[in-house]
Amino acid sequence: MNRCRNQTGGSTTTTATSATAEEPHGYLRRRNVVMATVGVVLLAALYSVHPGYYSARGSSVDVESVTGPATQRQDQPSGDLYSVVFDAGSTGSRMFVFHFKLKDDREGESVLLEREVFEAIEPGISSYAKTPSEAADSLAPLLQKAVSSVPVGQQNATLITLKATAGLRLLPKEKGDQIMAEVRDLMKSSPFLLPDPSKIMVMGGEEEGIFAWVTVNFLLDVLWDSDPDNTVATFDLGGGSMQVTFELSDNANLSDVQVRELYKLKLLQAYFLVFTYSYLGSGLKSGRLGIMGRGEGHFAGLSEQAEDDGNVLLSPCFPAEFNTTWRHGEHIFLVKGTSTSSSGLKLCKQAVDNFVHKGSFIKNKQLHQRELHLFSYYFDVARWAGLIPESATHKLMTPADFLQAAEHYCVKENMSEAYPFLCMDLLYIYSMLTEGFGLAPDRQCHVEQKILGREVSWSLGAALSTLSQRFTFSAVYL
Ligand SMILES: *[C@@H]1O[C@H](CO)[C@@H](O)[C@H](O)[C@H]1NC(C)=O
Ligand SMILES: *[C@@H]1O[C@H](CO)[C@@H](O)[C@H](O)[C@H]1NC(C)=O
Ligand SMILES: *[C@@H]1O[C@H](CO)[C@@H](O)[C@H](O)[C@H]1NC(C)=O
Ligand SMILES: *[C@@H]1O[C@H](CO)[C@@H](O)[C@H](O)[C@H]1NC(C)=O
Repeated sequence: MNRCRNQTGGSTTTTATSATAEEPHGYLRRRNVVMATVGVVLLAALYSVHPGYYSARGSSVDVESVTGPATQRQDQPSGDLYSVVFDAGSTGSRMFVFHFKLKDDREGESVLLEREVFEAIEPGISSYAKTPSEAADSLAPLLQKAVSSVPVGQQNATLITLKATAGLRLLPKEKGDQIMAEVRDLMKSSPFLLPDPSKIMVMGGEEEGIFAWVTVNFLLDVLWDSDPDNTVATFDLGGGSMQVTFELSDNANLSDVQVRELYKLKLLQAYFLVFTYSYLGSGLKSGRLGIMGRGEGHFAGLSEQAEDDGNVLLSPCFPAEFNTTWRHGEHIFLVKGTSTSSSGLKLCKQAVDNFVHKGSFIKNKQLHQRELHLFSYYFDVARWAGLIPESATHKLMTPADFLQAAEHYCVKENMSEAYPFLCMDLLYIYSMLTEGFGLAPDRQCHVEQKILGREVSWSLGAALSTLSQRFTFSAVYL
């Protein structure tokens, strides 16, 4: 097997440009790399195969050309490699230290994930729009933990990455920029390696989706499977956005792809045709807002309650006498219930369905054929509803399970005190999966927080790429 970088023909850095109007069909090379222990990930090229649509949106997917260690690498520092990744999400910040080990086997060297350190704080940095310096202060304890988790001798060789996600994408640009400037300064003060501080930035939803897909397929050891049908689809429900990502096979019928977001991904010598789409404004928290008649992200401008006083949200998903304050990003809302019947289910479901129908979620046949892996808030909501016990990090569930739980929690007397939004959240997930993505109510889905004890998130996929990125500095590859 040849994993040597200069023979894969890729350039050392690849930007997301590419006006190559490649046909989605026909170019997909059959994968010829099979690795038993999936160690090395090579993201050499990631670009849209629909350049017109892509550039029209003016965004840029910033995935560097990276390579895993090859047998010819000469600057091998030691068998231990670390990568520090900060995930600055809309509701909280999470820090990961990934400890990889170089592994020698018959096939040459590969990387195995040895250990992971994880720490989280709330709220997210987007909550500090009025006081950007506090955004950086809030991350300091996480950085401290990262420093204490990497041996001193390795620190100046360990790359640090921070990507902000949906919450910051929803802030006015100037406020987001201020926060990122503060955060960049904090990261620069760390002992870790930060070759390009401008890479500390808001991550595009497409990157988020693709990295999470890489993580899950890597952990399940199907990333390099010779049959794309054996790869799995990922559903990631964040606070502000929702990402769906799956690989299409060569003969995919693309005529029913509603929202076109196709990427050609190169991992080692294999090419992948990947659909990823980030539904901005369809995350759990943004979804609540949309269901209650406001909207953000793709739904900005949506407002059915023009006459209220701006801070009050009315919803049939709560009993009439109920009210609560709800903090969302910079705003604090007063949420008031309007349901006078004993169960809010029917009217709440109507409001939820109305919102989901505006979302134009993809209903693709190949997506339906894939094994489905749901994480982030899909898992949390199931856990809040008691559908997944505290001790478990994975459960096979169906959309109908969420509906059934809603039938319980939407009843006034059974409303959850700890999670007053539970009736709405459960119905939102049910409706998104069935009405939105067209899944059958009894479709089996893996709802999970961890795979093989590893946290499921985009962070591992990102760490693999940043880890590998430094190898491209090696003269062997230039
Ligand atoms: C990293 O630190 C070590 C000492 O701990 C030093 O010898 C080495 O030159 C440093 N490397 C870089 C790239 O600064
Ligand atoms: C592709 O899908 C569309 C819509 O589902 C269908 O009308 C069309 O016949 C399909 N084309 C092929 C070649 O299967
Ligand atoms: C909110 O509910 C409490 C009772 O739980 C009530 O006393 C209060 O007046 C309500 N506030 C508003 C603004 O409706
Ligand atoms: C409320 O929950 C209890 C306990 O789970 C259950 O017995 C009862 O039927 C529920 N009430 C309604 C109206 O569903």
